[in-house]
Amino acid sequence: MDIPKNADAAHYNDTVVRQFSIMAVVWGVVGMLVGVFVASQLAWPELNFGIPWLSYGRLRPLHTNAVIFAFGGSALIGTSYYVVQRTCQVRLFAGRLAAFTFWGWQLVIVAAAISLPMGYTQGKEYAELEWPIDILIAVVWVAYAIVFFGTIGMRKVRHIYVANWFYGAFILAVALLHIVNSAAIPAGFMKSYSAYAGVQDAMVQWWYGHNAVGFFLTAGFLGMMYYFIPKQAGRPVYSYRLSIVHFWALIFTYMWAGPHHLHYTALPDWTQSVGMVFSLILLAPSWGGMINGVMTLSGAWHKLRDDPILRFLIVSLSFYGMSTFEGPMMAIKTVNALSHYTDWTVGHVHAGALGWVGLITMGSLYYLIPRLFGKEKMHSIKAIELHFWLATIGIVLYIASMWIAGVMQGLMWRAVNDDGTLTYTFVEGVKATYPFYVIRVTGGALYLTGMLIMAWNVWVTAMSGRSVNVAIPAIKPAHA
Ligand code: HEM
Ligand code: HEM
Repeated sequence: MDIPKNADAAHYNDTVVRQFSIMAVVWGVVGMLVGVFVASQLAWPELNFGIPWLSYGRLRPLHTNAVIFAFGGSALIGTSYYVVQRTCQVRLFAGRLAAFTFWGWQLVIVAAAISLPMGYTQGKEYAELEWPIDILIAVVWVAYAIVFFGTIGMRKVRHIYVANWFYGAFILAVALLHIVNSAAIPAGFMKSYSAYAGVQDAMVQWWYGHNAVGFFLTAGFLGMMYYFIPKQAGRPVYSYRLSIVHFWALIFTYMWAGPHHLHYTALPDWTQSVGMVFSLILLAPSWGGMINGVMTLSGAWHKLRDDPILRFLIVSLSFYGMSTFEGPMMAIKTVNALSHYTDWTVGHVHAGALGWVGLITMGSLYYLIPRLFGKEKMHSIKAIELHFWLATIGIVLYIASMWIAGVMQGLMWRAVNDDGTLTYTFVEGVKATYPFYVIRVTGGALYLTGMLIMAWNVWVTAMSGRSVNVAIPAIKPAHA
């Protein structure tokens, strides 16, 4: 199974791609398992078992960190290493540093998996990890940037393909976001205080939080989309010009939309309005990108009928379109007055997370895994088909139940009687939500089952294949 030790420079470095791809599947299973568990705790609180380590408050950030940074992060770093080598037709820059990014990133994940259940947290959503782990993240991330941009710098192809622009923006923006938002004063090992205070702290946190969505959960995965959809469809990107407009419009607009997380707070009102307006503008580049991806199939729509991998990739874009329509609507202050604090937000999150991030990753990995292990295709296409339906039905159950629950909660909380008293107590709202929490558990369990089937399929494919080192092709004159 091992690749030859003397893999020479005329071959791509796919060892690190293989490692990240396999770990993406492993962390996907772990993160989603924790997701199903915390969803079950909301339906049946006895599952907290009175054990602090297993309490909802500690496992929820474990879920978000595992799915976003361990599952999503491993998939993003792995695919970016694959894509940048192929599109630059050169071996990865600084092989040892690339290996360090793999082991370093896994160390971050293990540190998170231990420290979060123990209750160590900075209390900032998606930036919970304490300062020693934050420093490790910064070091690994800078190493990642050196490997990625070093490879671009050595490229044999003059043009930098658009997927690399998206991956590159993701790498630079995440470095900036992480370093600025994590600035803190240590007060002991695993304890620190934010460098910012009061409303500034909130503003910096949600500038970070929203751009984590924009650059981690969106730009990086758009890099995946621009490489793997044309590859799997066997067609060029629908409009290359649109992809460039998409890139600049998206990265410019995202940076300003953060305050929509802080409507009706102590943040100055004008800042909230700026956030709302930029969120509305964001609809245009988001849909431009979605249309560009979907239209790449034009003339080849029939392939959707019998290619489940392509179906993963294209359906992910429809969820991307759905969540980027819903997001701008929720950013309108009057709509947010209803949706904020309710499960509607959680439904929106998972339309993006399960539908867009999850499906595009699974489709890309199904393309990648056989190629990394010298196989023509995955071990079982039927299993991919089954995974697709389990995931899709799971998502629909999850998001539809959360929409209904969310709107119901919002309406119940604001209902008043003629004499001005509240119509419902809070606990009546909680009781009314119960059936929807059970439906969510069902949807989540289906989605997780699909992921387990994928893990089995990947395992069998990898075990029956061998680790291959693909030769770097000679440069075609048109590219020189
Ligand atoms: C089996 C699949 C999954 C299940 C059952 C699940 C379940 C949950 C639950 C119960 C919560 C807490 C909601 C609350 O506090 O009210 C949550 C939060 C969250 N999950 Fe998942 N999840 C799943 C997959 C994913 C994936 C794949 C991602 C990302 C790629 C993700 C990202 C998030 C995020 C960002 C939050 C925080 C939402 C917020 O603060 O509004 N989840 N999830
Ligand atoms: C045009 C694009 C989008 C806009 C304008 C947007 C807007 C919003 C708004 C207004 C909220 C609710 C804020 C609140 O009431 O607290 C929200 C929450 C959220 N959105 Fe989006 N959204 C967009 C796309 C996406 C996508 C594609 C994803 C995932 C891949 C996503 C992930 C999230 C997450 C994780 C939260 C919850 C944050 C939290 O409170 O923890 N969004 N978004």
